[in-house]
Amino acid sequence: MRKVGFTETVLRDANQSLIATRLPYSKFEPILETMDKAGYYSAEVWGGATFDVCLRYLQEDPWDRLRKIRAKMPNTKLQMLLRGQNILGYKHYPDDVVRKFVEYSIKNGIDIIRIFDALNDARNLKVAIEETVKRGGHASGTICFTTSPVHTLEKNVQMVKELKEMGVKSICIKDMAGIMGPKESYDLVSAIKDAVPELPLVIHTHCTTGLAFMTCLKGVEAGADVLDTAISSFSGGTAQPATETLAYALRSLGYQVDLDDKALIKMADFFKGVRADFIKDGTLNPISMATDTQCLNYQIPGGMLSNLISQLKMMNALDRLDEALAETPKVRADLGYPPLVTPTSQMVGSQAVQNVLSGGRYKVVGKEIKAYCRGEYGRTPAPIDPEIQKKILGDTPVVEGRFADSLAPEFEKTKKELGATAKSDEDVLSYIAFPQQATAFFKDREAGFPKKAEPQKAAAPAAKKESDLPPMPAWQGHVYYANVPASASNGVNTRPIQPFAASYQPPHLVLAPQDTCPGTYTITIDGKAYAVSVAAADGSAAPAAPAAPVVAPAPAAAPVAAPAPVPAAAPAPAPTAPAAAPAAGETAVKSPMPGNIFKVECKPGQAVKAGDVLVVLEAMKMEIEVSAPVDGTVKAVAAAVGTAVNTDDLLVTLG
Ligand code: CO
Repeated sequence: MRKVGFTETVLRDANQSLIATRLPYSKFEPILETMDKAGYYSAEVWGGATFDVCLRYLQEDPWDRLRKIRAKMPNTKLQMLLRGQNILGYKHYPDDVVRKFVEYSIKNGIDIIRIFDALNDARNLKVAIEETVKRGGHASGTICFTTSPVHTLEKNVQMVKELKEMGVKSICIKDMAGIMGPKESYDLVSAIKDAVPELPLVIHTHCTTGLAFMTCLKGVEAGADVLDTAISSFSGGTAQPATETLAYALRSLGYQVDLDDKALIKMADFFKGVRADFIKDGTLNPISMATDTQCLNYQIPGGMLSNLISQLKMMNALDRLDEALAETPKVRADLGYPPLVTPTSQMVGSQAVQNVLSGGRYKVVGKEIKAYCRGEYGRTPAPIDPEIQKKILGDTPVVEGRFADSLAPEFEKTKKELGATAKSDEDVLSYIAFPQQATAFFKDREAGFPKKAEPQKAAAPAAKKESDLPPMPAWQGHVYYANVPASASNGVNTRPIQPFAASYQPPHLVLAPQDTCPGTYTITIDGKAYAVSVAAADGSAAPAAPAAPVVAPAPAAAPVAAPAPVPAAAPAPAPTAPAAAPAAGETAVKSPMPGNIFKVECKPGQAVKAGDVLVVLEAMKMEIEVSAPVDGTVKAVAAAVGTAVNTDDLLVTLG
């Protein structure tokens, strides 16, 4: 009888996917002993967004949480999710930091580290895997599932063989968006099992599109050994399929499942209560638990689609949605088919919108895309289109080799800088991973955790956020840009984008008042509140075509119903009427697209060279640099930080 193991995700991924990781330790502590006796292959309890959210919102030391779970669950393997060279965020860390993080994760109680890279660049996994093995941990090498003409079965098998060479003890297929169907699952699992039959194979998927149960079952039939599941009361929707359901089905089909049903019943009852509390306070949006098949129809996952729509809507350009939808797969192809997982999904989507709205492909390019094209994120699955790369980078050199090799060691230096502020090496690592959150946490800890205002429902920003990235929409780290669920046997993307009904409104985009009414509104997208100030184009209160909105994530504590504190008096967007024509010999530098002024990097009187950055806009959650088109002197700066601008608004005058 073949045995199938289960990894329980309720404390990490299901917690993250359904309630933005807001489950405090005190709330789940009473169930840990039961969970420990349930017979799981492992329990995923740490990593991903748990670390950040503990520091940022829960006044919990993430390391302390881990130690407490370890103490209550001595019999179950504890598992965490690690983003390879990025640890828990999106930027690359030097090797010494990655090694320390792995070392201390294992010291504090982790058994299995699931290690992945957003680009599936195995070089970004190597150090973390090496250190895990060295510290006696179980490294689980991960493939981010995606489809494209270059993501063939052969390529996946080749990566698995590389991971085996590196010393992983198991393989995980990580389908972040729930886009892997039963056929892809069967084909991919079969191919991997043929190549490395000795390594246990884990399937990780999400129920978002409704495929997950079938995907898991076909995966097991093809030889998968372990499934990621969530206890029923925290399963479904954007989380994993239910533990009990799969256990029941697999047993009836003759597989051995070593789970204790009584323990599962107790857990399900316990988490029903937890779920009710989070539904009551609004943290759990029932939509997160529903099935959303849009991505199968439109080849765009729900979260990404609502983001595209909201961006276009804020720019009063919803009529360009079909163009943006058609442009996205092209951008992905230009960029070498990155798997669509945070942050590449966001980068591809935003670039597609920019290509459509800014009057030319790659005319406006964000800082993140530039870094990506330079190779700072790793090796792309296929080469980036050389012409486009040249257009984006100009003469900027491309990173040769592994980006982390260019980074100086950071741990000891930071430890010295922090001095007595850091009470332990773990504190130093918390600080390196999330400097702002850790600083605030250390301060609160020193003060004995002064009581903060109760976190308000829905107003909490997305859990997965790095200080070096603009705020993410509330996709909670599971943002995926599904491409085509192609046949995994040839990996060719053949399904065209479906036309989009003009009247279509996605269910998760709740736009408060009519967009022609000036004023300050709170817009909630997937449970995250955005403060949006809408002004009439002529500055009057009369309904008119909306000018560019001021968009800022509402602070965590802002009740969603109240107007978020974007200064209502924020200067109306720079006048949308054409700015006065520059005098002879002067050059007007205008905004290439609607957005917010994020930084002003020049002063009147300053001499600048062509290509120098004058202003940085924040548009579509990306930083967009606006450079001097010619050499000259700054005559006047019209751009003011924090204000909104429209396309062609005057930013700087050069003389
Ligand atoms: Co996941």
